[in-house]
Amino acid sequence: MLIAQITDPHIKTPGKLAYRRVDTAAMLARCVREVADLRPAPDIVVLTGDTVDLGLPEEYEHLNALLAPLTMPIYAIPGNHDEREAMRAAFRARRYFPASGFLHYAVDDWPLRIVALDTVIPGEGGGELCAERLAWLDRTLAAAANAPTLILMHHPPFPTGIGHMDEVGLRAPAAFGSVLAHHAQVQAVLCGHLHRTIQAQVGGRRVTTCPSPAHQVALDLGAGSPGGFRLEPPGYMVHLWRDGVLVSHTAVIGDFGGTHPFFHPDGSLID
Ligand SMILES: [Fe+2]
Repeated sequence: MLIAQITDPHIKTPGKLAYRRVDTAAMLARCVREVADLRPAPDIVVLTGDTVDLGLPEEYEHLNALLAPLTMPIYAIPGNHDEREAMRAAFRARRYFPASGFLHYAVDDWPLRIVALDTVIPGEGGGELCAERLAWLDRTLAAAANAPTLILMHHPPFPTGIGHMDEVGLRAPAAFGSVLAHHAQVQAVLCGHLHRTIQAQVGGRRVTTCPSPAHQVALDLGAGSPGGFRLEPPGYMVHLWRDGVLVSHTAVIGDFGGTHPFFHPDGSLID
């Protein structure tokens, strides 16, 4: 099973740039083209939050138009820039969000079970899994203890060392880690929010954050840094589930030439 992960596209209304600088729509369109051209084609796409920038219905309309070339199922979760009710309405046709309440759900249709979480605190940049959401997670994982499972959540459940992002991180991540520790079937936790690739281990499981197809959060581990973004090469991830192992690749989006051969046609190394 092949899973493409796109995160944090921050789509605005048509014609608007993010932070007056980043053409997030053009950058998502480029990412969508690359994902649509992947061979073998991904079975599903997971979209791990900050799908739009201000949570406006018109932004979701724009997002859906940009995602239209992707014909495989797209499983989305909200990030801090999303707005629950506008997102629920925009994704209604996909039928996985509950009719009310948190935008969390489980999908049992694939070799890897998908458990999608909602870490949003309305109006805030940080996230949380409150007692109600953690209980739902624990219950949902317990209901299929033998199904290899992938968890999706926007806010990563660990401090990254990038101070200004940790200030808007997940509250009380240890509580999530202790739920995770009880469910050995979880293969990985896929996150967004950080706009760059970061790995950590939480509750004995692998957790990764994915780059954005648009702007990246600067790699700045200095204390008290005001933070900011850079137009580093954008990206997405491809996760391959095969023979009981989940392998995660980061793909860089851009024009780099090639693909060039290592060998001459006679099989000798090009010197
Ligand atoms: Fe974001």
